[in-house]
Amino acid sequence: MEVIIKANYEETSKAAAKVVAEVLYAKPNGVLGLATGSTPLGLYKELIRMHKEEGLDFSSVRTFNLDEYVGLPPTHDQSYHYFMYENLFKHINIQMQNVHVPSGTANNYKAFCEWYEKRIVECGGIDIQVLGIGTDGHIAFNEPLSSLGSRTRIKTLAKQTIDDNARFFARREDVPIYAITMGVGTILEARKLILLASGKNKAKALAEAVEGPVTSMNTASALQLHHNAVIFADKDAAANLKMAEYYNWIQKNKPGAPKA
Ligand code: PGA
Repeated sequence: MEVIIKANYEETSKAAAKVVAEVLYAKPNGVLGLATGSTPLGLYKELIRMHKEEGLDFSSVRTFNLDEYVGLPPTHDQSYHYFMYENLFKHINIQMQNVHVPSGTANNYKAFCEWYEKRIVECGGIDIQVLGIGTDGHIAFNEPLSSLGSRTRIKTLAKQTIDDNARFFARREDVPIYAITMGVGTILEARKLILLASGKNKAKALAEAVEGPVTSMNTASALQLHHNAVIFADKDAAANLKMAEYYNWIQKNKPGAPKA
């Protein structure tokens, strides 16, 4: 695992966007795993800028989103379909038939979840997966107690997550309590994972994920099992990391290291 600590949200977003762009320059038909929430907005803004100003091309890119609220149709302004279209897809030259977001309105969720997993494999697997972290340590909607081998399925959201996400809805009662989410096992199969964290409210969960034991009580800790995982954190989110100086030392000396 690598930990890259940046001064602020903007620098964190730019550094992460650079890594995503590198994957797409190397593989123009790459498969991107995408996340929603406040955290990746800066990353998406930077990818849009790179598309408009530097010609970053999404015409052959395929995407898979991590999750969706059960019960919200794509037209609902709090659905993750809507979020992705408004904050990324409509601003770049992606082909909408190459976009996959779990359905929050499937007739048969079990069949849909199986199809979603199969579709990822058919596309060759996810090259780079973008992740946020919940205040309870979740990645996607893999709440505490989610099996570290879990696959795409329906999850009941933790009360803490409902509280965190209530800010986007008119009333707390409007926040759906179920979501369809990729599993931790699904996420760990991506070739590269990047987890972004910003703000003081993430400091505890991030420190547990990076420096605590691997545990289903903080599913972001499963990144410790992945051979190519990078954490991008701003200073506030990194505030509880005991070994921050060590992570900075590694980053500082990285350019001089012999090439693997
Ligand atoms: P946030 O959500 O980016 O809105 O803080 C992160 C998450 O729940 O994964």
